[in-house]
Amino acid sequence: MIVEQSSVFFLETQTTSYVMRVNDFKHLEHVYYGAKIERGPVDSLVYKRNIQQGSAVLYDAERDPAYSLDNVLLEWSGVGCGDYRQTPAEIKLGDGTFRTDFTFDSYRIVKGCVAPETLPAAYDDGDDAETLEITMTDRAGKMTLLMYYTTFYETDVIARRVVLVNDGTDTIVVRRLMSMQLDLENNGDSLVTFDGAWIKETHRHDRRLQYGQYVNSSTTGASSNRHNPGFLLCENETTESHGSVYGFNLVYSGNHYGLAELSPTDLVRVQLGINPFCFEWPLAAGERFETPEAVMTYSNRGFNGMSAHFHDFINRHIVRGDWKGMERPVLINNWESCFFRFTRRKLLRLARQARRLGVEMFVLDDGWFGDRDSDKAGLGDYRINQKKLPRGMRSFAKDIHSLGMKFGLWFEPEMVNPDSDLFRAHPEYAVQTPGRNSLFGRNQLVLDLCNPAVRDYIVENVGRILDDADIDYVKWDMNRHISDAYSPLLDSQGEFYHRYMLGLYDILTRVFRPRPQILFESCSSGGNRFDLGMLCFSPQVWSSDDTDPVERLSIQGGLSYLYPLSAMGAHVSASPNQQTLREAALSTRFNVASFGCLGYELDLKHLTRLERKEVRDQIAFYKAHRRLFQYGRMIRHTAQKDNKVYWQCVNPGATESVAGSFQTMVHAAEGNDVLPLSGLNADSVYRLQTKPQRIFVRRFGSLIKHILPFDANPNGPVLRWLDRLYALTDCVETYEASGKTLMRGVRLNNQFIGTGYTNRIRMLCDFGSNLYLIEQQPGQ
Ligand code: DGJ
Repeated sequence: MIVEQSSVFFLETQTTSYVMRVNDFKHLEHVYYGAKIERGPVDSLVYKRNIQQGSAVLYDAERDPAYSLDNVLLEWSGVGCGDYRQTPAEIKLGDGTFRTDFTFDSYRIVKGCVAPETLPAAYDDGDDAETLEITMTDRAGKMTLLMYYTTFYETDVIARRVVLVNDGTDTIVVRRLMSMQLDLENNGDSLVTFDGAWIKETHRHDRRLQYGQYVNSSTTGASSNRHNPGFLLCENETTESHGSVYGFNLVYSGNHYGLAELSPTDLVRVQLGINPFCFEWPLAAGERFETPEAVMTYSNRGFNGMSAHFHDFINRHIVRGDWKGMERPVLINNWESCFFRFTRRKLLRLARQARRLGVEMFVLDDGWFGDRDSDKAGLGDYRINQKKLPRGMRSFAKDIHSLGMKFGLWFEPEMVNPDSDLFRAHPEYAVQTPGRNSLFGRNQLVLDLCNPAVRDYIVENVGRILDDADIDYVKWDMNRHISDAYSPLLDSQGEFYHRYMLGLYDILTRVFRPRPQILFESCSSGGNRFDLGMLCFSPQVWSSDDTDPVERLSIQGGLSYLYPLSAMGAHVSASPNQQTLREAALSTRFNVASFGCLGYELDLKHLTRLERKEVRDQIAFYKAHRRLFQYGRMIRHTAQKDNKVYWQCVNPGATESVAGSFQTMVHAAEGNDVLPLSGLNADSVYRLQTKPQRIFVRRFGSLIKHILPFDANPNGPVLRWLDRLYALTDCVETYEASGKTLMRGVRLNNQFIGTGYTNRIRMLCDFGSNLYLIEQQPGQ
């Protein structure tokens, strides 16, 4: 709901209000963003500025000797008019000057969204959205700034973006243009960012805001695994379930820039947009430049409240196409079991084994094309590797389909190896700076997506294979950062990074819009491009190349602040893990991966018969509760101990819930564990039961010989044989109680401490975990 009353704009969502006003100087002044308030006079909320600050530059000394832009909460700011905080726009005008001052001109309110012309954005296919378009002008600079605010009522999100129009006759140069600016008062705020690197993406980091600027940005050409574009601003005491928090994110997959600045007078400025790094965009007379869309939300129900808004928003207004709201199939991916070495026979054997365990889709990863027997060759080529798949892709896909499985295929279309037919024919397609040496990452160069011929080449070749082999799923990878950004087709190289993204979005539109049945999982060395721009095309993203379940607690946990579980690819892989060499129980590998879109990525032929049974049971359990895991309300619980992580999913109506309890390093003889729960109906009666899982005999190490009638070597053949035949059932606890009682915390059975063992003792050790299913009882 958007209402204008006496030059005050009220933007309302279900639980939030966003208020701004046109002030006497026609600046758009921010008044309030937070929990919902009544519409009416806002004088009491307006941030006061009726005394002149020493050394301030006054906007109009005659009219108001206290009005300095440096001390006003502004929805937009300019350059050279007295605001010394970071500017949202740096524009070099035709006469070489930089001063800009945008003031209010007019507005209109329209139902629904106003879609950008060049970029993906949130959409509304129901009756949820409304858009305010505010026209601001800088008459001296002959420019118009259209500011868009779209409210998504039910999901409590507001989207913002701007369009700059050059109304003059000279070309102007845009050097910085943010999608949004938000000025707030400081309430002792902390900034939360999600940072990392390859195999350690989206780890949460908190810091108290200090005077000056904190920038959360990427310059790698992608949204990056270094700093996810999404970040949070919260009151210092905010927890998972209590306190005030603002969430911000950007619908963009390229270089992003997020600012949190604390000014000398304790005002907080937030900006989000395209990174000004190496950015320079000439705008000729009459031309317009549109920024990507930024999204923001507010919750006074802690981080979980904020995440709930973003999760619902993404599932309803970002993800689109046939897979929107659909349950994702359980897949097997051959990468970690084969790398580049596979034959058709080997693949079919893996597929058959997976099918027997209940897997629904087979994904053939890297290595099926060109001369790709290592990462040194083949990228850019689309001929099927005859040595590995002598009967071609269509015949292989047919074999997979005839097993009753879907078939998925890996591509890395944005890249080229110098050792490829494509590079030999078209070296000019690769991104390289003339006169400089080529820079490689994983032996590959980036293709110039600014070039329409390159885009056509990719669209035609990928499309041909998708259609020919009737592909059901695509994993679209991108495995290096962009370096020496240059395209011979551009007059201004400052356009490169953004034009690359526009090129990528053009390709994705042309490949996937005509084939909405294909489930698209985007990937960039794991989570190097996990962002809302990609989610406009791919309903899910491969979260990380790190499949270690303990590492995944931080990675998936971090992602869950900003993105729903339906968007996270999560696989069970071999132990010791291939990234960390850590050994973790099969149960834990599943228990963590189940909070996401489940897959398996290991050589099933190396599993024992009992492990295969365990996997079959895991998949059956996941399928039975898949909707809960992928679309349930995800709750992160604040653990009282630093070696515990607790996650929970609750379905709409709270008739069913699943909770995960994860232990990192075991602490000897520590106090009892309490399973925290929330989101249940207080008065309903529920039955809580541990998901049964096997403990394999080898887990007991040398202790096992104490219960055997003979002396067995714990590493010897007898115990290895026993381990294949015999497993114990891990402790299963069952409780029946009201939601109210369960939400006081479930006092769990004791952990193993070496003094004895029964099936009422929880065997967690290092990296142990359990899932608990909580079902409302019939008639409740
Ligand atoms: C990086 C991906 O993240 C992996 O899952 C795998 O697809 C490899 N690339 C293949 O080269």
